[in-house]
Amino acid sequence: MLGQMTEPTEAPAYEVRLARVEDAGDVARVCREGFAASSVGLLSAATVERQAARYYDVSRVRDEIASAGEAPQWQGYVVAATGEGRILGAAGGGVTDRVVGNLHVLYLDLTVRGRGIGTTLLEFVTQQQKAAGASEQWVSVTDGNRLGIPFYLARGFVVHDKVPFDPADDPPEAFSLRMQRAI
Ligand SMILES: CC(C)(COP(=O)(O)OP(=O)(O)OC[C@H]1O[C@@H](n2cnc3c(N)ncnc32)[C@H](O)[C@@H]1OP(=O)(O)O)[C@@H](O)C(=O)NCCC(=O)NCCS
Repeated sequence: MLGQMTEPTEAPAYEVRLARVEDAGDVARVCREGFAASSVGLLSAATVERQAARYYDVSRVRDEIASAGEAPQWQGYVVAATGEGRILGAAGGGVTDRVVGNLHVLYLDLTVRGRGIGTTLLEFVTQQQKAAGASEQWVSVTDGNRLGIPFYLARGFVVHDKVPFDPADDPPEAFSLRMQRAI
């Protein structure tokens, strides 16, 4: 039955750790797929492709893995990985203005959603940010993202304000919710 085939599978055993350069291709793929799935009906296919090509290009991701922690504003990609090296999810953030934690990215392999892996990745990034002095945490989510906003609300974020998805767009194609919580 189709419904059964599309149900998430059980999450395999995994560890959460800093990404390694050899994870770059899988990290880029998980981010592209998660971004595309969470943008359906919200952003045009052209915008999704442009954003994905810009942020989740494999060589860019490889460079961002390699530069982890060189500056507080980028503490690196963090992955949930199985013992065989399968990447189940990826996250990353950093700290600005000494106390402001920013979550830049959080995406799962969509077949393992709803098993607590997103929470575990967020917790790892949060501990990185707290260790660097952050006391608040921010994330931007496309307004209407039904795969992301309920997760952040469940984790204690509140909507702070709403800004154009792309500040250069007039009129805006979509909006981003800036969400915030104390950590
Ligand atoms: C957002 C995402 C990373 C969450 O990861 P996850 O492993 O599925 O989330 P968890 O299993 O840890 O869920 C944590 C909580 O969020 C809630 N939640 C998650 N998604 C939800 C949804 N769509 N609707 C309602 N509640 C949801 C769960 O009920 C759970 O709450 P609880 O622990 O209080 O019961 C993942 O679903 C994902 O990759 N989504 C698509 C990409 C995306 O939108 N990323 C964010 C872009 S900024």
